[in-house]
Amino acid sequence: MSPAQKLEISCDDPEQKTTPGNLTPNETEILETVADAWNNIIRDVSGARTDSNIPANSDDKCGNFADDYVNIKTMLQTSSDGGGAENGDSEEVPNSGNGGGGKASSVLKPSPSVGMSLENLMEVPIGSSGKNGGSENGSATSMMDEAWEQLSRSYVYFKGQRVGTLAAIDTGGEALNYNQVFVRDFVPCGLACLMKTDADVDIVKNFLLKTLHLQGWEKRIDNFTLGEGVMPASFKVIQDPSRQKEVLQADFGGTAIGRVAPVDSGFWWIILLRSYTKCTHDYSLSELPQVQRGMKLILNLCLSDGFDTFPTLLCADGCSMIDRRMGIYGYPIEIQALFFFALRCARQLLKPEHDGKELIERIDKRITALSYHIQNYYWLDFTQLNNIYRYKTEEYSHTAVNKFNVIPESIPDWVFEFMPLRGGYFIGNVSPARMDFRWFLVGNCIAILSCLATPSQATAVMDLIEERWADLIGEMPLKIAYPALEGHEWRSVTGCDPKNTRWSYHNGGSWPVLLWLLTAASIKTGRPQIAKRAIELVEQRLAKDGWPEYYDGITGRYIGKQARKYQTWSVTGYLVAKLMIENPSNLLIISLEEDKKIAKPKLTRSASWTF
Ligand code: GLC
Repeated sequence: MSPAQKLEISCDDPEQKTTPGNLTPNETEILETVADAWNNIIRDVSGARTDSNIPANSDDKCGNFADDYVNIKTMLQTSSDGGGAENGDSEEVPNSGNGGGGKASSVLKPSPSVGMSLENLMEVPIGSSGKNGGSENGSATSMMDEAWEQLSRSYVYFKGQRVGTLAAIDTGGEALNYNQVFVRDFVPCGLACLMKTDADVDIVKNFLLKTLHLQGWEKRIDNFTLGEGVMPASFKVIQDPSRQKEVLQADFGGTAIGRVAPVDSGFWWIILLRSYTKCTHDYSLSELPQVQRGMKLILNLCLSDGFDTFPTLLCADGCSMIDRRMGIYGYPIEIQALFFFALRCARQLLKPEHDGKELIERIDKRITALSYHIQNYYWLDFTQLNNIYRYKTEEYSHTAVNKFNVIPESIPDWVFEFMPLRGGYFIGNVSPARMDFRWFLVGNCIAILSCLATPSQATAVMDLIEERWADLIGEMPLKIAYPALEGHEWRSVTGCDPKNTRWSYHNGGSWPVLLWLLTAASIKTGRPQIAKRAIELVEQRLAKDGWPEYYDGITGRYIGKQARKYQTWSVTGYLVAKLMIENPSNLLIISLEEDKKIAKPKLTRSASWTF
């Protein structure tokens, strides 16, 4: 269906729909029938999830259901066509092997664990996924049951209320900081709670309010006071013997390795707040004055004037999920994509009252500038690689093609082999004379979920994942980054970090938690088969291996050298992936629709866009 053919459906009034003139009466009737079904779902969901004191037909400020409907419908059509590479029966993928070269083929079956087909979407409201979100398949159901059980064991209580989840419950090793509630780790936990049947919304609300309270603390590292808006990386509940009561202890980077503040925490907090609001329709939380203020403080940290010439956010190494030195300082894609996502979520939640209007204008401008910058300068596909390879240097004027003066000799050899004719991705980092060509999964998937990626770019990213399955998915999904730094590069970039040796941990290790992001991106792009294949791989080992934090090795075959077992986000990454693949409408809780007002760049077309 082309965008021009979309049905306009008001969430407030299901009767109020207009049909475009270029549809046949028959087509219009079919679309109206499905639209009515969708509106019924919306009504059911609003009814089921709305706080009794909130009107059932309150404005859906968190997204346009008509758009949601049309996009999911398009996705269903794509998936039921089963055409091309999405057809699991005949799909050929490269064998796992050495990065880049010699990709032999093997046949992968569709995942037997995925009990419900996408065609049934219209019969299932957001959040419901069979009994407790379990699947039809026996072994997968027991894995789901075990996962729910593990999740409930990880709950952290403060004054009798659940406020978060432990990072890991591994009794085998030293706890380090894994006995804390990490903000980023809680995101898939919170999503699992929101997506399950009979959504468990309280823990998410408590978590959002408790972390907001921590944001209000004065934050000092030595004699330096951190910005007001900084959100903690993690917190824990301790018993204060002198006062004989429970108290919270938070880390804003002051005790973390490298003493770096988590730039991602504030963005994840806003994103989860929007998910909560989207799922529950409970606007009373986001409209609380202190919640509005918390959002503004986070955004003020990122939108204040400085010396910047780029709309991207300048960061220290180790300020996100990769919280150790890994050469991601500068303008890492993970942070830029989360920044964009958070800006768009805040745009939906901020009230224009008081200084809100001015902030919303700043957000709008930044969204436009940021999407232009990332879509143009971070994008790499075969055509663009060839352009960079032929770049002239030392161009000094507005007409420069090679804007950042990237020296073609700095392109690493592996990229030429890795880059398929079909596919593309956002590279890791762009700054003067520096392009980090590494692939990072989080940034690319977040770019898809937030619509930072254009539809063609989103498709090309999924093409790349298919084309380079052995490198990026391997035997145990999913590589956090590709390729690994080795030898001299590893020494100089990581500072000889013994935890980040090649193909381990953040340096090319495989992280099961990332399964939820891949699944969300696959469904959003109409390619659920990609997620099903990855889920099947995870189901073969993850529970048997004790839900490790990460796997090592070029294909992710070995349980990580220092990986914790019973890592909560490995458990909930799997749960969220299953809840979405079994009921794709759950995707709406974490994905945004395209904003037509954001200008699209004129990009050169790679082969991947014309297939
Ligand atoms: C490690 C990871 C970080 C995660 C934390 C808790 O430090 O690098 O991303 O949040 O463990 O699981």
